[in-house]
Amino acid sequence: MLPIIESLQSEALVTLGGVGDAAALEAWRIAYLGSNGKVKAILAGLKDVPKDQKPAIGARLNEAKVAIELAFEARKAELSVGGGGGGAGGVGGATGFGKDFIDVTEPGMIETRSMGRRHVISRVRDELCEVFARMGFDVAESKELEDDEHNFIKLNIPDGHPARDPNDNFYVDDARTLAKPRMLRSQTSTVQVRVMEEAVREGGGRLQKPIRIVAPGRVYRPDAVDATHSFMFHQIEGLSIDKGVTMADLKTTLLQFARGYFGEGANVRLRPSFFPFTEPSAELDMLITLREGQPPRWIEMGGCGMVDPAVFSACGIDPEEWTGFAFGFGIERLAMGKYAIPDIRLLYQNDLRFLAEI
Ligand code: DAH
Repeated sequence: MLPIIESLQSEALVTLGGVGDAAALEAWRIAYLGSNGKVKAILAGLKDVPKDQKPAIGARLNEAKVAIELAFEARKAELSVGGGGGGAGGVGGATGFGKDFIDVTEPGMIETRSMGRRHVISRVRDELCEVFARMGFDVAESKELEDDEHNFIKLNIPDGHPARDPNDNFYVDDARTLAKPRMLRSQTSTVQVRVMEEAVREGGGRLQKPIRIVAPGRVYRPDAVDATHSFMFHQIEGLSIDKGVTMADLKTTLLQFARGYFGEGANVRLRPSFFPFTEPSAELDMLITLREGQPPRWIEMGGCGMVDPAVFSACGIDPEEWTGFAFGFGIERLAMGKYAIPDIRLLYQNDLRFLAEI
């Protein structure tokens, strides 16, 4: 077969040299490169070539085809430079189908541009805020570079509490010598404090109206990275303050949220726990279906409870007058639950194969 390919290529190139105008070029194109042309005919014969020779012959044939196509393009360009010149009213040789001629009937260059989209964490954060917004929660945001007054002290986490250990936090200032050392916040509960302080300031020194916010954002902890831990992750905090708020309001809100976000089959379960800033406190699990057709599973989502009176007092709110509940979930946990993502690291590696699927 190789000699046939050789002779086809030389024959094509020789006859192409003899082509003198557009019509002849088109006839040549049909004869060699057309759908019933000689190149196609030889390509069709490739299927009868013994298997062990196929790669070599296929490669040679492809080479010949490319050479013939390139020669055709070159000849076409040559012919159109001089061709068609001298049209009525033309100026010099640049008229008619000169080299600047653009054939608008040619198909365009097909460029596959993939569409970008927002990262799954951003999408989940916005979805969560939207579900809570429907339940009357505003979105509050605050800074990531905090101080230990807002990250710990006003949240009723006193000096010497193990959570304040410099080895477990990203302090920016020296925690042993400075009064109010700055740190990357380790929890979005800081936003509770900021929002309460702000409301009291606005109220001229006392809280004048209820508060209902969720606060999504990044938090930082020097944890070793593995399938479920990262030194930076996202939480969403909730805070609802009003008169006569009870644990039943908390549970109803969480249940409504779970059904709104995960669907009607979702459920919530509270397990007694301890957090310094809530009393009583609970650990929150949600019953969700990870994959269609599989039984639902309890997934641990975060913590919650009734705002501790000490926190109210620290923020200038009278605990005799106001009551409230608070909660905090990990956004990665929710996203991993909702999209059955097995490893938290997938969320930060920016591997397009993963991101395009989620
Ligand atoms: N801040 C807690 C954490 O990072 C989560 C949390 C628990 C937030 C209970 C709350 C709460 O608002 O009431 O582990």
